[in-house]
Amino acid sequence: MPIPDSIDPESIPRHVAIIMDGNGRWAKRQGKPRLFGHKNGVNSVQEVVECAGDLGVEVLTLYAFSTENWKRPADEVGGLMGLLKIYLQKELTKMVKNSIRLTCIGNIAKLPKDVREVLENTMRQTATNTKLTLNLALSYGGRAEMVRAIRQISEEVCNGDLEVSAIDETLIDSHLYTAELPDPDLLIRTGGEARLSNFLLWQASYAEIYFTDTMWPDFRRDAFCAAIEEFQSRERRFGKTSAQVESG
Ligand code: IPE
Ligand code: IPE
Ligand code: MG
Repeated sequence: MPIPDSIDPESIPRHVAIIMDGNGRWAKRQGKPRLFGHKNGVNSVQEVVECAGDLGVEVLTLYAFSTENWKRPADEVGGLMGLLKIYLQKELTKMVKNSIRLTCIGNIAKLPKDVREVLENTMRQTATNTKLTLNLALSYGGRAEMVRAIRQISEEVCNGDLEVSAIDETLIDSHLYTAELPDPDLLIRTGGEARLSNFLLWQASYAEIYFTDTMWPDFRRDAFCAAIEEFQSRERRFGKTSAQVESG
């Protein structure tokens, strides 16, 4: 699909991260079970992944399941895991054809074994693809990610392999799940809530944040393009003044 004229192809965000929220409420409004919302949410995933690829986004991170989501009723957790497995199995051919590389962030050891195997197989088979990195946040929590990084760094210090004075932002970055990825430029949350819910707490420090009331199952190509347009209308100052930004 061609890029809409309203979008400047020269300033596409490199990394877009999305908190895909609102599936349950979307279903409830129609008198349907929550899983119906999750199933329809998968259609939005397919459309947004395709659109991100068309626009030339390098990395698309999708918050699919948080560390806190394990607290949901077992049937909902099971339903979500089942949908994830089916999605990965169904999309593999398309990922290979469209040069999509699948990666993930989070504590995937906690996922059911069959889901983890499909996930690992998909990552292996798409590892050399170069167009779009589709990065799934699964059993992911920003705080847990930081605890893990601090433990790794502390061990290196205790073993005598690292000086405390060598701990800087780059080193911390390199111990996060996102070590290989650029920081998100644009962070989208659907579903009407205005919070981060433990998502990319370190990495989003200078992301442009876009909240929309649209529920995730209704968030399709046009909605994604609208978020990109809004991103392109913002001035990113990174602490500087407007005048400094304008003079380059
Ligand atoms: C987002 O939709 C999907 C996941 C968190 C897995 P929700 O299931 O949170 O939907 P709401 O927020 O209850 O509407
Ligand atoms: C955030 O949504 C997590 C995902 C989208 C995977 P939640 O629905 O879990 O967030 P809260 O509980 O409303 O903050
Ligand atoms: Mg929610």
